Amino acid sequence: MKLGFIGCGAIGTDVAIAADSFEEISEMFLFDKDKKAMKKLDDKLKKSSKTTLETMIEKSDVIFEAASQEAVSLYGKKVLDHGKDLIIMSIGSLCNEEFRNELINTAKKNNCKIYLPSGAVCGIDGILSASIDKIDTVTLVTTKPPKAIDKTINKRTVIFRGTAREAVEKFPKNINVAANLSLAGIGFNDTYVEIVVDPVATRNSHKILAHGRFGRLRAVVENMPNPNNPGSSYLASLSAIATLKRIVNPIQIGA
Ligand SMILES: NC(=O)c1ccc[n+]([C@@H]2O[C@H](COP(=O)([O-])OP(=O)(O)OC[C@H]3O[C@@H](n4cnc5c(N)ncnc54)[C@H](O)[C@@H]3O)[C@@H](O)[C@H]2O)c1
Repeated sequence: MKLGFIGCGAIGTDVAIAADSFEEISEMFLFDKDKKAMKKLDDKLKKSSKTTLETMIEKSDVIFEAASQEAVSLYGKKVLDHGKDLIIMSIGSLCNEEFRNELINTAKKNNCKIYLPSGAVCGIDGILSASIDKIDTVTLVTTKPPKAIDKTINKRTVIFRGTAREAVEKFPKNINVAANLSLAGIGFNDTYVEIVVDPVATRNSHKILAHGRFGRLRAVVENMPNPNNPGSSYLASLSAIATLKRIVNPIQIGA
């Protein structure tokens, strides 16, 4: 398989280094608007070459996006128009229903796939299975230490309560997790989000609570930051590598 990268930052680097050792991946093509980031990553890899977006799309079988929402808006449809599979990390870009449907319809038309790794949360597999029947409620409780939002808060404080749609507008840093959960479950208007700032917390954590015909689900993760970008959780990179493994492995585990 030939793999293209849009974005050579923290997540792109983790995934490319892992993919470099996959025997199923023969070549990798790198693209980033920051030429220094592209060169820095290329220097760490054996199977890669730096290239233009057009050449990368042409030569790759699968394109991995870990750049920005802007990058998904600019290049997502182009990738799918060429019949190439697309893995999206900047899932917040799919909040806009019209744009999301445009990508889905293009993928359908060209017989290719859009993969959304579970990212910085766990429990997405359970929500996906549960959503086959009726889910009554899905709640995401994100807890952050005060320094994560640059505020001095001395006691546990709920700073936001509302729908996922309102949360992604007011707290764009939470956007990927809320978007992923909404898409897996009951949508942006019915998924409920609480954001808590807690001086006792040392790292960002996400708790998913869901209730429905399947029963009750509770999934909690406490995330270590990515060593190369404290704003990204390390689990996000690991989930992307796990998605790549799902694509190349004959055995598929989980929903
Ligand atoms: N799904 C999740 O749970 C999850 C978790 C963490 C981060 N993310 C998202 O993944 C993306 C990458 O995160 P990161 O930590 O690697 O960021 P990063 O800032 O370390 O790296 C992003 C790289 O993409 C490049 N880039 C940005 N826009 C571009 C464009 N339009 N064209 C070409 N290159 C472009 C930048 O130059 C940079 O090198 C972000 O959008 C982030 O919000 C998703």
